[in-house]
Amino acid sequence: MKNKTVIVTGSSSGMGKYMAEKFAMEGANVVITGRKEDKLNAVKEELMLKATGDIFSIPMDVRKPEDVERMVEQTVAKFGSIDHLVNNAAGNFISRAEDLSINGWNSVIDIVLNGTFYCSREVGKYWIENDKKGTILNMVATYAWNAGAGVIHSSAAKAGVLNMTRTLAVEWGARYGIRVNAIAPGPIERTGGAEKLFESEKAAKRTINSVPLQRLGKPEEIAELAYFLLSDKAAYINGEVVTMDGGQWLNKFPF
Ligand code: HXC
Repeated sequence: MKNKTVIVTGSSSGMGKYMAEKFAMEGANVVITGRKEDKLNAVKEELMLKATGDIFSIPMDVRKPEDVERMVEQTVAKFGSIDHLVNNAAGNFISRAEDLSINGWNSVIDIVLNGTFYCSREVGKYWIENDKKGTILNMVATYAWNAGAGVIHSSAAKAGVLNMTRTLAVEWGARYGIRVNAIAPGPIERTGGAEKLFESEKAAKRTINSVPLQRLGKPEEIAELAYFLLSDKAAYINGEVVTMDGGQWLNKFPF
């Protein structure tokens, strides 16, 4: 990844931050994005201590097409090109479907589904116009194809992102050589998802018991997989979703 430019959305915490760190340690120029400038600046300083490439932070909201356009312009102005996009920014909270407000539904759909499309469209257009073969990696969840009881907004949005992964892999793969893949992480420690979805001790225990390997995943493990999928070692992987969940989604009868 030396001298390659990678954009990781939603990288001021959780998996996004660990992926940004991995790419930076492998020599990439990494663009970190998030809504809160102070948080981004702190992460930038932290990553700079380990990075062999450069780090550039762009405060933005993936829900705003004008922010996404600016993200691409600023990245190209700073690093001269874009090689990879990781659509990691997400929003989620637990709510029964019948209690979920229209605004709550729209917020998550806007971040996860629309935000992923806005970023993919803008970066994809840049690659197409400049005759570049880039790679996109989308973060989904196993409930993209399974049921997401308690998170219907996130579940429906991730299902859309998974379809977008396959659709763009075919449409842009055939015409432009752009690869699009996804990772479906299970419960991963030190992430926003873990904090929100497994916050009580009871919920955390229940989650660990649902995983055949009897532990949460590590964000570093997700970062290694992301690194592989973006790299040329995965040059023939296109339109694929790789699950990294310790076997959780296959397990119908928790221990
Ligand atoms: C019920 C809630 C709620 C909650 C927000 N809302 N949190 N309803 N329970 N816990 C409702 C609000 O009442 C409001 O509706 C609407 O959602 C919008 O809320 P805002 O706070 O104004 O929205 P906003 O500031 O845009 O925040 C978006 C957000 C927030 C998604 C609600 O949580 C966020 O920004 N999250 C980003 C980080 C994050 O969630 N990371 C975890 C990703 S985990 P009303 O009707 O009152 O106006 C993940 C996958 C996990 O994606 C997979 C695990 C296996």
